[in-house]
Amino acid sequence: MPRASIAGLGKYLPKRIVTNHDLEKWMDTNDAWIRERTGIETRHWAEPGKETAASMGAEAARQALKQAGLQTSDVDFIVFATLSPEYTFPGSGCLLGDMLGLNGVGALDIRTQCTGFVYGLSVADQFIRSGMYKTVLVVGGEVQSTALNLTTEGRDVAVIFGDGAGAAVLTATDDENKGILTSNLHADGKYARELFCEAPGSFGEKRVTHEMIDNGSIYPYMNGRYVFKHAVTRFPESILETLRATGYSKDDIDLIIPHQANKRITEAVQQRLDVAPEKVFSNIHKYGNTTAASIPIAMTEAMEEGRIRPGDLVCTVAFGSGFTWGANLIRF
Ligand code: ACO
Repeated sequence: MPRASIAGLGKYLPKRIVTNHDLEKWMDTNDAWIRERTGIETRHWAEPGKETAASMGAEAARQALKQAGLQTSDVDFIVFATLSPEYTFPGSGCLLGDMLGLNGVGALDIRTQCTGFVYGLSVADQFIRSGMYKTVLVVGGEVQSTALNLTTEGRDVAVIFGDGAGAAVLTATDDENKGILTSNLHADGKYARELFCEAPGSFGEKRVTHEMIDNGSIYPYMNGRYVFKHAVTRFPESILETLRATGYSKDDIDLIIPHQANKRITEAVQQRLDVAPEKVFSNIHKYGNTTAASIPIAMTEAMEEGRIRPGDLVCTVAFGSGFTWGANLIRF
């Protein structure tokens, strides 16, 4: 049975860099608090209308295809993970397909928030294992900046999010020791309202009302401490699940690439698993939490920095709104 191997990676970060000191101008926060509680120093914000989830994703995808030595015409299917599509419908995957000239190629949007890329890799892997497709583009792209409440009221959420995109090209391989070895995907909607954005949505009589704007339900809500507690349990759980499924031990893993939610979460995962700090990738200081884009951006950088070499065993793992969580174990 074929399985999906990662043939190319790419990333795109918007040109505009927003520092913690910039945020101090708009809300009662400070650089020291943000660094200490989250590890974030800067984040990138998209230029509205120009740098969108799909357009940034398309840039990342072009890079990934180039690295893989493939043409856009080689792509059989698109998987696009985002919680911030350009429109309520259609999804960003359709827009990205058009930008890449892939008109007629199937495009599936995935809505599992921070876990979107982990789900996306698994979906692509299943299509490739079944023999339905040979080359699948998996993209994570997000524009968070335009959804944030940039007043003191929204500071807990506003300081952590950033914009960007990352992409991976997955191709079929018959090498049993290469590619996505296993994935686990989880969700528990009991916790949906602990981290969510209520409006616009189809829950009530109207999608968006003046009242929703006035009462702030158009902004993301996060029960930060609650999310934090669940995250530090679910990350290690999902990693260990990949090991149980494959028979590897934690010492076999060369690099863990966690969703970049908070530096303290990453450190807690590293300590709970009792692995060396250099085995856990972190770039949150530069980009903040870019939701579904954070893992492909991190994976691309890890590759650029020589922290992923051919033959390495890499574990991608995420937790986020839903709650959703999961992991992939990948042999490069
Ligand atoms: N600047 C300054 N002070 C702040 C800020 C800010 N930006 N935000 C909150 N505070 C204050 C609070 O008001 C509170 O003050 P008080 O003690 O006077 O009441 C104090 O700082 C502590 O607030 P906490 O919320 O307890 O701070 P905590 O240490 O929990 O950090 C954070 C908050 C960073 C949000 C953390 O809880 C976190 O990272 N949670 C998890 C985030 C996550 O993993 N999200 C999942 C992915 S996102 C997705 O799926 C969409």
